[in-house]
Amino acid sequence: MALLQPNTEMPFNITRISHVVLTSRDLDATRYFYESGLGLEVTFHDSERLALRAIEEPGMFSLLFEKVTDDGPGTCRTVGYRMYTDDDLKRAHDWFHERGMAAEFVVRPFQGLTLRITDPVGVPVEFCATMDQHTNRMRQFHAHAGGKLVYLDHIQIATHDIESAYAFYNDLGFRLTEYTATDGTDQVWGVWLKRKNNTQDVVYANGAGPRLHHVAYHTPEIANVVHGADVMASLGLAETMDRAPGRHGIGNAFFIYYRDPDGHRVETFTSHYNVIDVDHEPTRWDLSDLRRSQLWGFPAPRKWFQEAACFDGVPVQPPSLDAPPVTLEDFLEGWSQ
Ligand SMILES: [Fe+2]
Repeated sequence: MALLQPNTEMPFNITRISHVVLTSRDLDATRYFYESGLGLEVTFHDSERLALRAIEEPGMFSLLFEKVTDDGPGTCRTVGYRMYTDDDLKRAHDWFHERGMAAEFVVRPFQGLTLRITDPVGVPVEFCATMDQHTNRMRQFHAHAGGKLVYLDHIQIATHDIESAYAFYNDLGFRLTEYTATDGTDQVWGVWLKRKNNTQDVVYANGAGPRLHHVAYHTPEIANVVHGADVMASLGLAETMDRAPGRHGIGNAFFIYYRDPDGHRVETFTSHYNVIDVDHEPTRWDLSDLRRSQLWGFPAPRKWFQEAACFDGVPVQPPSLDAPPVTLEDFLEGWSQ
């Protein structure tokens, strides 16, 4: 498909990715991983819920865990975006209904007016404009811990239908900043989409889906990303590292990935860049160009590409594009010969 013209005439204003709601079998273990390890702040914890946020976030949470008793890997219950005002939410409600989509207002803890939809590739999505506020720890430097994570920057979702996801979010006013496509064609394999002023709020990439691949927290220094790994190791959490340090070509991020006790993947990273100007053209990466995933460093292990969290009750469909990635296992096999 040809690239789409950005939609600059939205009747409502989505401002950024806001939060993600995930399941946890053991809230204490989850708390240890995120609070003691990665350094997030706990703002609420009872027998049913655990709310966490990063250093610069004034709202109550960017990660909310809900306790479950069933075995098996964790699931994602919803992904949340902010709109600018409640009036935006009301205009969005009408806009979705005019297009035949179900959209309903729901009550959620810590959030103001909240609108819920399911996007065209099956992802449960909620929008709110307000959330309970508390003074954050930005100027409490003695309390900055772990990877010194400052805000939830983006999420990545695997989908069987990239084109539908791209078209829908483009209609909602998201701008394409970078993308991958099959060599020699415009067959889009992954789209980096943003509302705020950097490279992405959400990534949709080809894969069995819909599934949540990862959530990603920004920190301002490479040293913080590395120090976070040292802290995780000193707490006995070294084996939770899911992908070793490296730098993505796409987005320019220096990264480390971990898996929490329920298998949810979290990226700690730094060094995205601004995308603001209307004439800032999207960057294309051929699928064969391995620099898109790592400018340097080893390829990701197979499980990084294959494993992700299902959305509660949403069936997973096989990918529509056949594009097997080059994995760490493939790379090492060639390296040893
Ligand atoms: Fe990411």
